[in-house]
This record gives sequence, C-alpha cells and structure tokens, in this order.
Amino acid sequence: MHSAVSSPAPDWLAVPDDANDLVPEIWPASATRDADGELSLGGIGACELARTYGTPLQVLDEGEVRRRASAFRDAFDAAAAEHRTTARVYYAGKALLNTSIVRWVMDEGLNVDVCTGGELEVALAAGADAGRLGFHGNNKSVAELERAVEVGVGTIIIDSEIEIERLAAIVSRTGTTQRVMLRVNSGVHAETHDFLATAHEDQKFGTPLAQAPELVARIREVDGLDLAGLHCHIGSQIFGVAGFRESAARVLDLHQELLAGGNIPQLNLGGGFGIAYTRTDRPEPIESLAAGIVSAVAEECEARGIRIPALSFEPGRAIVGNAGVTLYEVGTIKDVELDVGVRRYVSVDGGMSDNARPALYGAQFSARLASRAGADGASLVRVVGKHCESGDIVVDHEYLPADIAPGDLLAVPATGAYCAALSSNYNHVPRPPIVAVDAGEARVIVRGESIVDLLARDAGIDR
Ligand code: LLP
Repeated sequence: MHSAVSSPAPDWLAVPDDANDLVPEIWPASATRDADGELSLGGIGACELARTYGTPLQVLDEGEVRRRASAFRDAFDAAAAEHRTTARVYYAGKALLNTSIVRWVMDEGLNVDVCTGGELEVALAAGADAGRLGFHGNNKSVAELERAVEVGVGTIIIDSEIEIERLAAIVSRTGTTQRVMLRVNSGVHAETHDFLATAHEDQKFGTPLAQAPELVARIREVDGLDLAGLHCHIGSQIFGVAGFRESAARVLDLHQELLAGGNIPQLNLGGGFGIAYTRTDRPEPIESLAAGIVSAVAEECEARGIRIPALSFEPGRAIVGNAGVTLYEVGTIKDVELDVGVRRYVSVDGGMSDNARPALYGAQFSARLASRAGADGASLVRVVGKHCESGDIVVDHEYLPADIAPGDLLAVPATGAYCAALSSNYNHVPRPPIVAVDAGEARVIVRGESIVDLLARDAGIDR
C-alpha cells in the first residue's frame, strides 16, 4: 500500500480516504463533526470543552457507558435464559473507577468488582449496595478482608490457600457467613485473537487446577464460608469465543469433580472482552459474543451431564473504553528524517502520565483533529507527549491532515479504560479532570489536579 513512497508507516495502517473520518467502532456514538468540521462529544463541541476545562481533558460519554452496561446485561440475560440459567455482569472497576461510574453501572443493573481496599472504598462512597460487590486480588491484606466482611461484600474471590485461613479467622471472630468463590488458573491465557493453553500457566493469579480440590475441601470445612463456585479470568482485550470455551471446559472438569462434595451453584468466567482502538480491531457485537459464550458453556455442561451453573462475567474495558476520549492541544511539530522516509512528531500537552498504555504495552491508539476538520491530505504522524522520555508515545502511527498545526485540538478515542486508572504525576504533570458529557450537558466528575495538589505531600515546604 505504501510501496510507491518510502514511509515509516506500519503495514497494518492503511492511508485513509478521509483523514477526518470517525470510525464508529472506535468512538462513542455521540461523536460527530458539525457543519464546520469541529468534533462534538455528547452534544458539546470540543473547543467549548477545552475552553471550559482546559487540556488535556478526559471526556467520558455517560450515555455510552450506560448503553454499553445495559447492552452487556441484556445480552447475557438473554443468552442465559436460552439455556435455562442466569447471568450476572460485574463491571470491573479497575478499568476506571469513580463514584459517578459506580452509580451509572449499578443503575443499569450491573454489579461491581473491586480489587483493592481503595477500590472498595470508592464503591462504598458511591452508596453501592455492598451485596452487589465482588472483591478480587492476589494479595488482599487482613485489614482489607476484615473491611470487606464487615461491610457485607457479596462475594470475596479467594485467590490462595493463605487467604482461606485469613478469612476463616475473620468469620470465626465476627460470627459472620461470607460467600466466596475460588479463583483458579485454568492454564488458558488469551490475548487478542489467539489463546494459549498450557497445563501450568506461569503467573501469579489464582490456584492451579490441580491444587483446587484440596482448597475447596478446606473452604467447605470452614463454618462461616459459603462456597458459591469457581472463578477464572483468562486475559484482556480478547476477541471471540474460543479462549472462553477452552477455559470453561477445563474449569468445568473441576466443577464436575467437586459436585461430589456438595452443590456448586455458580461459575464466573471473568472479563477481557476486546474493543476497537484502531480501524483494524473488529470486535464482535456483544449479543452474538454472549450467545456464543453461554452456548459453549451449555454444551460443555451437557457433554458432562451436569446442570449449567449460574454464570457471571466481569467486563471492564468493554464498558468504558470507547466512552472515553482524551482532548489535547497540539504544541510543537517536527519532521524527523529517517532512512525509510520522514516521520512527523506531533507533541501534545499530556502523554504517558495520562495514558501509559503505549509505553507499558506497546498499545496502539488512533487520533483525529478535533477543533476543526483538516483541509489537506493525510500525513503520517507519531503523536508524543511532553514527558522527558523517548517512550512517551500517545499514538504510535496515525494519518492526520497534513495542515495540522500548533494550537489545534487533537482527540484520542478509546481512552476510557486503563488510562486515567493508570495515570501518574510523572514529571510533576498534574492529572487531567474527567468530565462527563451527555445530551449537551457537561460536568466534572473527577477534578483535575492543581499545582497545590502537586506540592501538597512535600514535607519540605513551609506551610
Ligand atoms: N476480572 C479480573 C479478575 C481481571 O483481572 C480483569 C482485568 C477484569 C475482570 C477486566 O478485564 P477487561 O474486561 O477490562 O479486559 N491494564 C491493562 C489491562 C489489565 C487487566 C487486568 N485485569 C491494559 O491496559 O490493557
């Protein structure tokens, strides 16, 4: 495709017909360009958002979060009903957590999964019914477990043998009964379109399948622990059904074996549903994915002659990822000559402090001019941040209008998940606010940091 002119463009990135287009799979449904070409999100122009709240700015489309949450709930309800079971959906709060999101997703009928004491406190501060929370983590402290039991967290997902004893001591001291699941490591690891299945997966989460019967026997011995079932999570940014099926098959072998010792009403298959970051990502609609996964579980149960358990799932990225768009202001631009052609570096006023995913995982994003539509043809750019680090990349490869200039607003879509959640103050760059937009209204849901915040913890400053 790029053979005519030498270019540092990767093979997967085609030159778009229109470098101002908004690929629907990547953007929130409310993203449009007005008659002048300005990007609008949730009914509000990008320029107005930037004027009011500054840049960088994390914009979150509330309607999009709610629609995706209810679509997951409806899709899994329908798929489960087809197979005479039920399905619960937990929003995985690690993707992005604040009290507003907790309220939105719970309003839409989702439960919430938290994985630290801090996440638990955010959910509680939102007024969440603790019974609708799941509590994860491979190293929950005694204090975190005590707090979870005290507030009545619905399900604690036990990760290891030590945790059983910690919980046993707590429930015996407090005279409570706690519902628990056991997280197992199915040996299946999935990422994008492929999955890898081994007998022993080399990672820190969960209990290996072979050890699980012993741990389940111990849980069953403890009076105050009520075993709901097994849990497994195979990875993140997964496309298709195959990885879920393979993992479910392995866990159902164990589930079947354990039925000899008592009822096991539930099975949690975790999260990991992939989303579109660039135009090459093609996620399947949740309706067909849910139908495929639940049918696969039903078939595996039928093959073993066991009843299909009540199912649960824990999507994080797929609920909030495409609802988030980051607005930046373009600063310096430079053309760097390489052996393979010219690479244009476009710097923006944020970077790896508000989106660490490219630096951490080599993650790909896309970008579009937001303050206006560009007039010129497409030019290959690399969008970089303002941090003192060469790996401070925001968008590795993108085609943007060649007339992009300092002062333009640039929008990076699909930043709702694991961007604000992983943000830092590296180089003492304040973290941006999160502004919710919906039907022409905008409001701050997490305020941005100020210089006062940046200095607040420095004990060497006289106050
Ligand atoms: N359940 C459990 C037990 C998990 O560990 C995770 C994610 C999820 C659910 C939600 O997965 P999701 O549906 O969001 O893929 N920071 C990385 C992703 C880390 C995922 C950790 N666990 C990234 O930015 O790609």
